[in-house]
Amino acid sequence: MKRKYGRVTRQTIEELTTIVGKANISTDKSEMEGYSYDETPLVKRYFPQVVVKPGNTGAVAKLLAFANGKRIPVTPRGAGTGVSGGCIPVYGGILLSLERMNRILEIDRENFVAVVEPGVTLSELINQVEQQGLYYPLYPGEMTATIGGNVATNAGGMNAVKYGVTRHNVLGLEAVLPNGEIIQTGGKFVKCSTGYDLTQLIAGSEGTLAVITKVILKLTTKPAKREVLFAPFTSLQNAIDAVPEILRLKMTPIGIEFMERSIIEISEKYLDREIPYHQYDAFLMLIMDGESEDEIYEYFSDVEEISRQHGAIECLVPGSERAKRRLLDAREKFYHAIKRYAPMELVDVVVPRSKIAEFVRRVKEISEEHRTPIIVYGHAGDGNVHLHPVCLNMSRAEWDKRLPQILRDIYHAGVSFGGAISGEHGIGLDKKAYLPIQMDEALLNLMKNIKQAFDPNNILNPGKIFDS
Ligand code: LAC
Ligand code: ZN
Repeated sequence: MKRKYGRVTRQTIEELTTIVGKANISTDKSEMEGYSYDETPLVKRYFPQVVVKPGNTGAVAKLLAFANGKRIPVTPRGAGTGVSGGCIPVYGGILLSLERMNRILEIDRENFVAVVEPGVTLSELINQVEQQGLYYPLYPGEMTATIGGNVATNAGGMNAVKYGVTRHNVLGLEAVLPNGEIIQTGGKFVKCSTGYDLTQLIAGSEGTLAVITKVILKLTTKPAKREVLFAPFTSLQNAIDAVPEILRLKMTPIGIEFMERSIIEISEKYLDREIPYHQYDAFLMLIMDGESEDEIYEYFSDVEEISRQHGAIECLVPGSERAKRRLLDAREKFYHAIKRYAPMELVDVVVPRSKIAEFVRRVKEISEEHRTPIIVYGHAGDGNVHLHPVCLNMSRAEWDKRLPQILRDIYHAGVSFGGAISGEHGIGLDKKAYLPIQMDEALLNLMKNIKQAFDPNNILNPGKIFDS
């Protein structure tokens, strides 16, 4: 349902210029083009009417109060590396880029926290924190992403088994409500039983409730060593069956990834090099950190025993830094490899860990039924499965026609196994049509009422997650 929004007029631009300064506002078409899309596959572009880049919380507050008064839509944006269209300005209006709010305000070594502005990139954060002898343990996959964006989508990634997802590492926020009020939630502490947990409500709300202007992040100490184990199996079921037993060992790995031969082949083409044991059907890649090589290798020998009991052909532990880096690098580049390979869609359904193989079997049937290949890999340690229906051997028009039903079938299957539509990328624009497959009306209405309480005029990132 289209609703009537206020227009961006010359006077609007003048007001916004007063708030952010002449250098930090643009209506230039070629500049705005860069803010009209993100990393979502096959994304449609939507141009904002104006891009503003406030430099501090006060400016964000003035800007929102002004936009709210005029009913102009505001779409917050970090680095634009999201893959669900969450930061695309579908209703035009104001694109609020947080790129200038990129300062690390504090690294508190007493309390193991960092206080950062939302535009700080993951790579900058990790760098600065490690210089202080501390560690931010998440790796959602994209180092140029901003922390604000990671928090807004509750980004997950490969280290979730041991370190959780972004929300588990967010202790507090400063955020601006659509009416311009500034709120502080949480603090430099882990425990809190004081009222509703708005930190965790805003985390993962994809910029629909408030604009995050400061984040308090939990830090830890950096383990001395990180090692990788790579095991080929003759079937995905065997590989997946080994996972619960591996997780029952006394030590917890950072992550356990699974992959099938098809993505290995696509990666080999992309990287122009061979991946070990590429002739097998399924693989586990286990990443472990610890204080010494001995400690990790001892753990790996237990992992090997379990894996072999489940039919692993081999358990490769790369001997050199270079070989280890090459294995990890191949995994980290899957998305880039497949993006290059064919037009595709990206699914990030999460199911209970033990259901991965059964779910994937159902996906294979869906693939057959629609005569469309679906490439499979994902985070075996946490149940988060990536599926890419790809457009091969058929016209784009035909594939586009089939895709919505393929996705519906996949989401229905995921939900029937007790899963959720999105494990780590968010709903954004891309998946909102499928949300009712998982959520009944009572739940959706409650969410809409929460949105209404924060943003009665529906100016903040409208058209995302659901239509208000
Ligand atoms: C990954 C991204 C697609 O796991 O989430 O590679
Ligand atoms: Zn992922």
